[in-house]
Amino acid sequence: MAYQTLLTDVAERIATVTVNRPEKLNALNAQAKIELRECFASLKNDTAVDVVILTGAGEKAFVAGTDIGELRGLDSAAGREFAEGGQSVFDGIENLGKPVIAAVNGYALGGGCELALACHIRLASGNARFGQPEVNLGIIPGYGGTQRLARLIGRGRAMEMILTGVQIDAQEALTAGLVSRVFPLPELMSRARAMAALIVSVGQIGVRMALKAVNMTEEVPLSEGEKLEASLFGLCCGTRDFREGTTAFLEKRKPHFTNS
Ligand code: COA
Repeated sequence: MAYQTLLTDVAERIATVTVNRPEKLNALNAQAKIELRECFASLKNDTAVDVVILTGAGEKAFVAGTDIGELRGLDSAAGREFAEGGQSVFDGIENLGKPVIAAVNGYALGGGCELALACHIRLASGNARFGQPEVNLGIIPGYGGTQRLARLIGRGRAMEMILTGVQIDAQEALTAGLVSRVFPLPELMSRARAMAALIVSVGQIGVRMALKAVNMTEEVPLSEGEKLEASLFGLCCGTRDFREGTTAFLEKRKPHFTNS
């Protein structure tokens, strides 16, 4: 499907979605949010896609936030709706049911940082910068940032970023656990594709069950999470892929997974 604000490409079971408003540092306007919702809804059902990479166009920005021009006219009621709308788009990414890798290639500010937080794995280029600068605009993060950032990097560091609005660079983001790896910008996409290809090469039933289990970490207490883990583990054990994976290991050959 052709979009106005996104570029999409599918190759070797990996979809690449690029937010494409480089002249506005890929800031998310209403159209971009509508298109992200549609795009991820269609990727969810796309049997040709196992893994998604999300990035920004150009060499300067992943996404520099929500489009500030569209924020200005909001009153209290519209502001709440605005936040709920963005949250549901980002929840759709987190709950895609397939891994989403954020390849953060520059500024990830405000809604851009929150967009990366909604992905399952975050890789960054050396020039990436992360921040929740909403306090500078008299607001707070509204697309899940107060919740996901604190859960990912701890309340203290999240408070510091959200209360000061100060940006951190890629190395600081790595130390904080906000991203899992940093690469030179020219290597970022090939490294993201290599990681995606590794995920494509294993059994997708296991990948999706693991995603579901780890995604529940913050939703339920440990004892409930363990129950869920055991039941998903049991489901995996009923699959052909499980028999193939274990048999291939014992026969010292590569497994041939059929996702069944
Ligand atoms: N919303 C709307 N437009 C944005 C934007 C945003 N979040 N971020 C950048 N832009 C636009 C700029 O207005 C500018 O447009 P123009 O050329 O029509 O004037 C263009 O993108 C380039 O940005 P510019 O500010 O000139 O680049 P810079 O290199 O000087 O600064 C930033 C880069 C990221 C530091 C700066 O653009 C910025 O602070 N952006 C806002 C970040 C933010 O507060 N995000 C959270 C929003 S909730």
